[in-house]
Amino acid sequence: MHLLLVVAVVAWMGAEAAVNTCANEDAIPLILDIDPNIDDVLSLAYLAKEGSFELRAVIVTSTGFSNPSAGVEIVYRELELLGLTDVDVGIGPFYPTSCEIFGFDEDNGRFCDQMRVVNREDHWRIDNLYGIKNTRLPYSSNFPAFEDGDGTASVPMDAVEIYKRHVDDGVTFIITNGPLTSLLAFMTTYPDSFAMIETVYSMLGNVDVVGNVYTLVGNDVAEFNVAADSVAAAAIVNSTIPEIRLVTLDGTNFVPVTREMFAALADVETLEAEFILDLTEKARDNWFSGVDGFYGELPNGTKTEQSIADGYFLWDPLAAILATQPDLATWSYDALLVTTTVPVDLDSDGAVFRDSVGKIVYWTTNLTEASAEFVRDDIVAVLNKSCIVDQPLPLNTMNSVYEMLATEYGYVEGSAWVPNTCDSDLTVVTEATSTTCPAGYVCDTRRRTTSNRRLRFGYATAQAGTCVKSV
Ligand SMILES: *[C@@H]1O[C@H](CO)[C@@H](O)[C@H](O)[C@H]1NC(C)=O
Ligand SMILES: *[C@@H]1O[C@H](CO)[C@@H](O)[C@H](O)[C@H]1NC(C)=O
Ligand SMILES: *[C@@H]1O[C@H](CO)[C@@H](O)[C@H](O)[C@H]1NC(C)=O
Ligand SMILES: *[C@@H]1O[C@H](CO)[C@@H](O)[C@H](O)[C@H]1NC(C)=O
Repeated sequence: MHLLLVVAVVAWMGAEAAVNTCANEDAIPLILDIDPNIDDVLSLAYLAKEGSFELRAVIVTSTGFSNPSAGVEIVYRELELLGLTDVDVGIGPFYPTSCEIFGFDEDNGRFCDQMRVVNREDHWRIDNLYGIKNTRLPYSSNFPAFEDGDGTASVPMDAVEIYKRHVDDGVTFIITNGPLTSLLAFMTTYPDSFAMIETVYSMLGNVDVVGNVYTLVGNDVAEFNVAADSVAAAAIVNSTIPEIRLVTLDGTNFVPVTREMFAALADVETLEAEFILDLTEKARDNWFSGVDGFYGELPNGTKTEQSIADGYFLWDPLAAILATQPDLATWSYDALLVTTTVPVDLDSDGAVFRDSVGKIVYWTTNLTEASAEFVRDDIVAVLNKSCIVDQPLPLNTMNSVYEMLATEYGYVEGSAWVPNTCDSDLTVVTEATSTTCPAGYVCDTRRRTTSNRRLRFGYATAQAGTCVKSV
């Protein structure tokens, strides 16, 4: 027993923690608030590598796409890949603000009307990142389910406390790419700290173009991040924050992902680029309006207002890029309000409209084709930067392990993944037991998870470590 323990400790001491050296000398400290969907995780990767910002905290606001604990897991594991293991992660409120104010339908499994904005299939897809969470991301040493030896698991802090800690510490710049539930909770709980925020960029709303909430038949006035919590959007847009810049659909409609961008991304060999490429391809191939629909087109290649509303755009990445280079967009400056009724009316809530008594904010209008091209090229270029040292490998990039299992257990090509696991703690129902790390890697047994996962070779109580580069 003791001998085993010594071996395990020696094994992880050989592991070197990844380091992110991407931020510029004069980088601005930042809090990023997201609901970890496809484009959110891209915005996180972009901001972690671009250099203008130094990420201090990521807030997971899971009133949009993704469930809270799955969202936190995704963020911790992406941060691990990005070499940002000292970034705080905060977990936001579990329910839209309106549910808390107007009550739940307890007979229907603690449900409230606004939760219909994101359907369960989408939650499932995003919680699993279209099935690639385990192929493209490593485990995280910070993930709350991680056991630190004595059986106790750390718990992520409340988003409101993380906001307070960092704003009090002088972080005044915030980017939100999800609903504003957490930010509103911060405003309500700690108004004095909230008052220190200077700038907020938000992927939020639509002013002169139709909305994109395909789950609400009958509502074409809203954008998802508003619709998922219209009470929070209305309160924050009308708040005292001095500089609010809404990156609305009016602007994001000009930055679809193109076939050329996929091709360019496929030439980039960083782990982040492979993660984003794989994820975006999965999203495209499973898109609700079809593959052409993903590109904002009808099957015959033409575009209509509706086909554009149903397409996939670089929504959140655009907010991230504009925060670094605001001149890429044309900004309008208007008094705006957000429709929210009492209790909630899903058919009409969430519209962002001009009103002379509204709050004066900036919002994006048409981008030029040159700007749109720049945005796509810049994402590819930033994902191609090499500024992360000693990255842990994602769980399925270890081809030698994969091939060994394939040979040994007759596993043939399929959609399943083989875990990059490296100790013998796996309790697997079927034949596969454990694997070892290839040359140059050591087993970091701190990076393990206790959750039950469906493994290719049966059900396992995953207690495996992750192969990380040895010193
Ligand atoms: C917006 O905020 C102002 C100032 O706090 C307040 O007087 C006004 O009632 C608010 N409007 C809405 C629609 O919330
Ligand atoms: C990625 O960066 C490398 C240099 O680090 C460069 O040689 C290569 O052309 C770049 N690839 C793309 C697709 O930008
Ligand atoms: C493309 O398809 C749409 C819908 O079927 C149709 O209305 C439109 O005329 C077609 N356009 C061309 C150029 O064929
Ligand atoms: C801006 O784009 C919209 C379509 O979203 C178009 O109808 C409008 O003419 C454009 N305006 C300018 C000034 O280019």
